[in-house]
Amino acid sequence: MERLNAMITGVGGYVPDDILTNADIEKLVDTSDEWITTRVGIKERRILRGDHLGLSYMGIRAVRQLLEKTATDPKEIEAVICATTTPDYFFPTAASVISYETGCVNALTFDLQAACSGFIYGLETASNYIRTGRYKKVILVAGDKMTSITDYTDRNTAPLFGDGCGALLLEPTTEAFGLMDSILRTEGSGLMHLIMKGGGSAYPSSHETVDQHLHAVYQDGKHVFKYAVSYMADVAAEIVERNGLTNEEIDWVVPHQANKRIIDAAGRRLGVPEEKIMINIHKYGNTSSGSIPLCLWEWEDRLKRGDNLILAAFGAGFVYGALYLKWAYDGKKT
Ligand code: UT7
Repeated sequence: MERLNAMITGVGGYVPDDILTNADIEKLVDTSDEWITTRVGIKERRILRGDHLGLSYMGIRAVRQLLEKTATDPKEIEAVICATTTPDYFFPTAASVISYETGCVNALTFDLQAACSGFIYGLETASNYIRTGRYKKVILVAGDKMTSITDYTDRNTAPLFGDGCGALLLEPTTEAFGLMDSILRTEGSGLMHLIMKGGGSAYPSSHETVDQHLHAVYQDGKHVFKYAVSYMADVAAEIVERNGLTNEEIDWVVPHQANKRIIDAAGRRLGVPEEKIMINIHKYGNTSSGSIPLCLWEWEDRLKRGDNLILAAFGAGFVYGALYLKWAYDGKKT
């Protein structure tokens, strides 16, 4: 039997219209536009406002756009996998909500949680469904409503996050396109350095957990930064080397967008100039699982069949990794 690869055949995306600028953050915590810009690289982020609008609100819009752009009948979709840390509810899954609202009634659905590495973990998982030969059309939705778990009284985290969601269609090919290689790893010593403690089975929701602000992201920024900067660059360099790519052969680097300084370090390590690095952190902040697919969505018109893309992410856990992707089509699907 011929070896099947999983290629991306379309990209959709959604970011909310409402913008939270650094000036807005300055009104909430003791910070400055100058600090946020130079230490993190964010100028503004999007925020999903409105009562009881969850991640699925954005996921539904990203998937609808994807189906339209690829002229796909939702009934043909066989699996919808949603990578998120901020599903609408503990249960049912965001994937089930999104599938229902987009007419993907014949799809198996589940959520996958790998924090800021959700997209790269999701792409490996979705690709494996395709590689079995049994699934022909799989949607990966990835995004987060990070503002729903951000403590706007904590200056360590208040400026960092934004909301957004991307969606991709994966289909089989026997040609050398799609996900070519992946390295996905876990460094569990990170547990207490980047965590939302409250609401799970260890610290079920109570008045106390609310009073202690345990339902928001806690991050020991300095510690996470140290690991993120070296692990993300190392794993990206490792996948490049393992696949015998020279730095000239890398067309695009698509890093998770947590801090511009971490992105710059990865670019330097790979010897790739900034114009080949997709960066959206200045306008969207850290959208967690959404950061990489939103880059692909925005850069779609510049991507060409055969382009070599290196994707890399690092997040809570710590879970991290890098993917090597060969892009399968030219330009933007409309
Ligand atoms: O996406 C998942 C993975 N996450 C990451 O990869 C994030 C990794 N970490 C980071 O990106 C950075 O550590 C942060 C952006 C979170 C923080 O930047 P930093 O340069 O590491 O700052 P720091 O935590 O070392 O703090 C430096 C100083 C401290 O003041 P002192 O103790 O030196 O007087 C902080 O209190 O900056 C202060 N500070 C702030 N000042 C103004 C911390 N937050 C702020 C703030 N505004 N918002």
